[in-house]
Amino acid sequence: MNFYYEKDGIKAINEFIDTQKPSQVIVLTDDNTQKYCLPTLKQQIKHKFTNVNIKDGDVNKNLEALSSIWQHLLELGVDRKALMINLGGGVVTDIGGFAAVTFKRGIDFINVPTTLLGMVDAAIGGKNGINFKDAKNQIGTIVQPSFIWINSEFLTSLPKDEFMSGFAEMLKHGLISDAQYWQDLVAYSRNNDMEILPDLIKASVQIKQNIVEIDPNEKSVRKILNFGHTLGHAIESYMNYQQENKISHGYAVAIGMILGAYLSYKNENFKITDVNTIKDVILKNYPLINFDNPAIEKIIDLLKYDKKNENGKVQFVLLSEIGKAVYNKEVSLNDIKEAFEYYLS
Ligand SMILES: NC(=O)c1ccc[n+]([C@@H]2O[C@H](COP(=O)([O-])OP(=O)(O)OC[C@H]3O[C@@H](n4cnc5c(N)ncnc54)[C@H](O)[C@@H]3O)[C@@H](O)[C@H]2O)c1
Repeated sequence: MNFYYEKDGIKAINEFIDTQKPSQVIVLTDDNTQKYCLPTLKQQIKHKFTNVNIKDGDVNKNLEALSSIWQHLLELGVDRKALMINLGGGVVTDIGGFAAVTFKRGIDFINVPTTLLGMVDAAIGGKNGINFKDAKNQIGTIVQPSFIWINSEFLTSLPKDEFMSGFAEMLKHGLISDAQYWQDLVAYSRNNDMEILPDLIKASVQIKQNIVEIDPNEKSVRKILNFGHTLGHAIESYMNYQQENKISHGYAVAIGMILGAYLSYKNENFKITDVNTIKDVILKNYPLINFDNPAIEKIIDLLKYDKKNENGKVQFVLLSEIGKAVYNKEVSLNDIKEAFEYYLS
């Protein structure tokens, strides 16, 4: 998989179009990326393109939006030699990738992530798809884009909460595979040195890509990318479907990582001092949420829907040390409750 960074990306897009000579270029956006990111692309792309737009937000990553994209492609007379450029966050790259791989059995597509979460996570790895009947990411494929352009310039218009949502995935990358990178991120969270952000993003991209290359279909090591996500997803579902207070993905994963670190201490001899450091770093950057006992029970109940479950058992990713993760670990209900007590203490 080729990645192009900063200004090299637009050169790569122009060269790709010059050499591949697609019959048409379609740029998919959502309401925000149409407003904030499309003008930048428009200024720099040398070729004619048609913009197709969808409404923003994960609630719109659905069959209706997918159908509207297919409909536009049909009306535009798009053939198999067309190129689609997905310009947006995870919603646009997920639904756009799926639209591209299914239309006429597949047209070329390039991912241009515009959120931090998109750059370090969603746009990489080839997973694409839509939500279906309130269940997340139920329909999709794993097909790699032609390449990915990571341009940190797009982040200037991104709201702070969205930025922090992506930053949680970067922290995860440090915790599961690179202790020095974790230290660099902790330093960044204190000094917010924007100059080093592009390098930090690049390191995160490489961590995810290295793991995906070894195990593209998530049969083994790719599972470690789910650290913090087992309880994180359950918290996200609980808050977003059962509560007034919504939570974004990265914020829920941040809580999931504190709980995951504690479960690692209980089950994998992970040092309690490291658990405390993780909790401290995360709570300096993400708000503490006061779950009462009924909420904790409901969250635990939601674990039964986790995609990694095997034979009815919930499988966790845990840490053996900072920078090293293990997967397919079962933990007791009691430990999970204790982990929540630790989080709230
Ligand atoms: N395919 C994968 O491997 C993978 C991995 C993680 C997450 N995901 C999916 O990604 C989605 C979440 O991605 P996300 O966090 O990027 O959300 P998103 O795409 O919904 O973007 C978040 C918000 O930011 C806006 N936005 C995007 N870029 C902007 C910019 N540069 N300036 C201003 N506003 C901008 C969007 O319009 C949206 O309102 C979920 O659907 C999730 O399931 C997929």
